[in-house]
Amino acid sequence: MYALLFRLLFRRMDPERAHHLAFRWIRLAARVPVLRTFAAAVLDPHPRNLRTEALGLRLHSPFGLAAGFDKNAVGIDGMAMLGFDHVEIGTVTAEPQPGNPKKRLFRLVADRAVINRMGFNNEGSAAVAARLAARRPVLRTTVGVNIGKTKVVPEAEAVADYVASTRRLAAHADYLVVNVSSPNTPGLRNLQATEALRPLLGAVRAEADRAVPDRRVPLLVKIAPDLADEDVDAVADLAVELGLDGIIATNTTIAREGLGLRSAPALVQETGGLSGAPVKARSLDVLRRLYARVGDRLVLVGVGGVDTADDAWERVLAGATLVQGYTAFLYRGPFWARGIKKGLAARLAASPYATLAEAVGADTRKARA
Ligand SMILES: Cc1cc2nc3c(=O)[nH]c(=O)nc-3n(C[C@H](O)[C@H](O)[C@H](O)COP(=O)(O)O)c2cc1C
Repeated sequence: MYALLFRLLFRRMDPERAHHLAFRWIRLAARVPVLRTFAAAVLDPHPRNLRTEALGLRLHSPFGLAAGFDKNAVGIDGMAMLGFDHVEIGTVTAEPQPGNPKKRLFRLVADRAVINRMGFNNEGSAAVAARLAARRPVLRTTVGVNIGKTKVVPEAEAVADYVASTRRLAAHADYLVVNVSSPNTPGLRNLQATEALRPLLGAVRAEADRAVPDRRVPLLVKIAPDLADEDVDAVADLAVELGLDGIIATNTTIAREGLGLRSAPALVQETGGLSGAPVKARSLDVLRRLYARVGDRLVLVGVGGVDTADDAWERVLAGATLVQGYTAFLYRGPFWARGIKKGLAARLAASPYATLAEAVGADTRKARA
């Protein structure tokens, strides 16, 4: 049914308009109690064996929505209704900003992929913090808050920008993510170098502790799939050294070569971050590398090209305690999270592992034994 809707309607529409339209429907449905209850009952199964403890939080399952879909925290209940057991809002920047000029979102249908150069369009951390403060959750989900740098702020002042967002948002975050990996803010990814990352993460950690003295807000960093292997290792070591809680791997890629892309060259060459099926292999590689390096000292979040329950299960076995997705949702529609969770529960039940926690990293451990 969604395949038909996608073919007849969304595929013919500008992708950003289609996103706004679909998101508005989801939010509307979530506001009508009877619709919400019905939709959640159908779309949001809670298989018992998927219950997850991570980052000091209890989640219905390891599966959630990656950052970028709900940039301004306007539709958390709607996404929970569709079965996402955590919703990472943002990226939020300290100041409001419009993002890049349109057109800035492109579907590569033949590749089950998307290229985006949205450029952190968002209402800014003060507005988003006020919205989160006023929020009365109707469905239980975990809320991650992903922060990034305001475009007009020079790289040299990046720390203060992230710290301002942390001050406003940390109290509303079940976990906080420092995003240094989006390709659409000039210079942002330079912050992944350990000399830049160390002071940044240190300052955000300190500010989160100052802003929320009664709770330790878990802090994660989100990295790009384009980092060289040594740089992945360096970020992993730094994260352990600084006592970070986790790493999210990965964001979108700027790579185009060697991915077997089949879409028209003009489309493939659009500037921006590529997500979906073509990023899957590298995202999985980065995750495996991280797990081999840090084991269970950090919570690893696997994201990038997750499309099926098999993909999600593969991430768990590779080392992911939590798994996220975005692009496949655009192609598969509202039943997607439900299918992933049901499939994941079935795979776990059929596996030799008694619990999900036991399965985390099992393949990577085996490969190293
Ligand atoms: C349209 C779009 C916007 C995105 N915006 C953000 C963002 O604001 N912050 C962020 O950390 N990641 C953002 N992402 C990256 C996703 O969170 C995710 O890391 C990436 O798309 C790989 O996962 P996927 O293949 O399941 O989409 C965005 C992705 C897409 C497709």
